[in-house]
Amino acid sequence: SPSDPDLVERARKAKEKLGDKVFVLGHHYQRDEVIQFADVTGDSFKLARDAAARPEAEYIVFCGVHFMAESADILTSDDQKVVLPDLAAGCSMADMATAEQVAECWDVLTEAGIAEQVVPVSYMNSSADIKAFTGKQGGTICTSSNAKRALDWAFEQGEKVLFLPDQHLGRNTAVRDMGMSLDDCVVYNPHKPNGGLTAEELRAAKMILWRGHCSVHGRFSLDSVNDVRARIPGVNVLVHPECKHEVVAAADYVGSTEYIIKALEAAPAGSKWAIGTELNLVRRLANRFAPEGKEIVFLDKTVCFCSTMNRIDLPHLVWALESLAEGNLVNRIEVDRETEAFAKLALERMLALP
Ligand code: 13P
Ligand code: SF4
Repeated sequence: SPSDPDLVERARKAKEKLGDKVFVLGHHYQRDEVIQFADVTGDSFKLARDAAARPEAEYIVFCGVHFMAESADILTSDDQKVVLPDLAAGCSMADMATAEQVAECWDVLTEAGIAEQVVPVSYMNSSADIKAFTGKQGGTICTSSNAKRALDWAFEQGEKVLFLPDQHLGRNTAVRDMGMSLDDCVVYNPHKPNGGLTAEELRAAKMILWRGHCSVHGRFSLDSVNDVRARIPGVNVLVHPECKHEVVAAADYVGSTEYIIKALEAAPAGSKWAIGTELNLVRRLANRFAPEGKEIVFLDKTVCFCSTMNRIDLPHLVWALESLAEGNLVNRIEVDRETEAFAKLALERMLALP
């Protein structure tokens, strides 16, 4: 939908007044009305790197969700301030693993006599506490664009991986990219005693997957894929690895948001694509590539926007920018020093992956 011209003008003015003091990052799932003001757009890996590469910006305005803003704070210097335009922009997946639950899980692994063999690998989509736990226990962070490299690295450090909190990304990477079998994976359920697993099951597993998922990507189904193939002959199905294993197994291509964009840029005119990821991005890509004769549809029309990504709208962005321009620091995201030190260790291991 077209954005309110008055708000557009106010955002433009406030940004102009702030000049180089502000740097606006926009995740690919953000609304068009917000993305138009982003200095860079990217997937979560690219945005983490870009945030770290802007030491001259006093304010980093993060148009994305809470865990991304936390990661930006961890990777930037102490005098840089990271601002999230709406503090309610969380992530239901990140909320599925709390520090207490993960500490309890580690006790279970210790009881089973395997903790020493286990390397934690945590998806970027997790709280700073979980990242700190990961750093403390010798593990790394990964994103959807480097999960295989992170697992390769982790299996050089130990025999087993505890993958947090997205079971689907963990399973899809292990089975699709690493040649493991579904039987190599077990699911740890934090709501059950001992994760719902016996010590024998834990000892036999190579991948211990946390029972978390994305509420948006989890809604694409095998039926979505079969239906679109029946409806659009010759369609290429391209999905995000947060989708369920059966969806990923039935798709033609799988990758992060940045991968999806590159694949469509490289696609020939006349090709047809069904995309299984967040709707703001799919719509933007459909509009962008329609003039080139590339037909792009949403994989399942019953799936909707990520409601927390959508919390960041133009009114919130205008409010944040105008406040900063007037010298009021609002909605700062600041990770405490101890958490930051260990979380940074884990994030830097990711940034150093080959
Ligand atoms: P990427 O942009 O890394 O593919 O992540 C997708 C996502 O769900 C972010 O919340
Ligand atoms: Fe979290 Fe899923 Fe939304 Fe990404 S799309 S922010 S993983 S709920």
